[in-house]
Amino acid sequence: MNIRKVIIPVAGWGTRSLPASKNIPKEMLPIYKKPVVQYVVEEAMRGGIKDVVFITNRDKNAIEDHFDYNLQLEAVLERGGKTKLLEEIRAVAEMVNVISIRQKRQLGLGHAVLCAREAVAGDDAFGIMVGDDLIFGENAGLSQLLDITRATGLPTVGVMEVPRDKVNRYGIVAGKETSPGIYEVSQLVEKPDIDKAPSNLAIVGRYVLTPELFDFLAAGKPGHGGEIQLTDAMQELCTAKGMIAVKMNGVRFDAGDWVDYLTANIYFALQDEDLREGLRARLQKLLHA
Ligand code: G1P
Repeated sequence: MNIRKVIIPVAGWGTRSLPASKNIPKEMLPIYKKPVVQYVVEEAMRGGIKDVVFITNRDKNAIEDHFDYNLQLEAVLERGGKTKLLEEIRAVAEMVNVISIRQKRQLGLGHAVLCAREAVAGDDAFGIMVGDDLIFGENAGLSQLLDITRATGLPTVGVMEVPRDKVNRYGIVAGKETSPGIYEVSQLVEKPDIDKAPSNLAIVGRYVLTPELFDFLAAGKPGHGGEIQLTDAMQELCTAKGMIAVKMNGVRFDAGDWVDYLTANIYFALQDEDLREGLRARLQKLLHA
């Protein structure tokens, strides 16, 4: 099965990250040493993806630039003999091929995905990754979905259990668990009221979907919040073709939530051996002050 591209919608305003995101795309805010979006792209690469379709707007050029060469900076590093840094920033430029599409009006996540229709034409399926969601761990995230869609041809969606009182913040999925952590989806609802949610299995911003989706998106009416919702078109895709929900392994951080954002910084910094001891000591001191 031909799955070569992921769509990463990055045209959102990022109001949750203000004022930090006033003049910087929220996707470019750093988590430890790398911008949020680099973690997402690296996750796609772990699934063997080489082509990324960013759905952007006029204020998001920094994202494309990050995945391109910066010859001036490279020359400065080269002259200064900073070989390791030079290699590191060149490697970022070489990670993926970038296709950029402007979402000229922000009409919802479904609308953003629809903007990529021509860019993914000809592929049997394609990934979608919400740029705020970070998933990290062994065999965690998009690759879990790619494996199943490649094997079955069916659309897949990443989920995790959330507390009942938080179901109204997510797309919610209901279905039959056919093996541990794998569900045959019967229903998808975008941000249901807490007392009407069919389950507490929440969509966590990872999808591998098939091209029929675009017809449902194109015909879609505004849903929750007056926006064209991806979840609504997925319900139709599910009815027409079937769909599998997969519990995501690893840890998940929502980069638009300050507690998660800060925790993610610490989580990734603690994995750096050069920092671990010092950071631990400072944190312990801080917490016991
Ligand atoms: C979007 C989707 C929602 C999903 C969430 C995951 O919502 O519409 O179904 O649960 O991403 O992060 P948003 O967070 O953009 O409002």
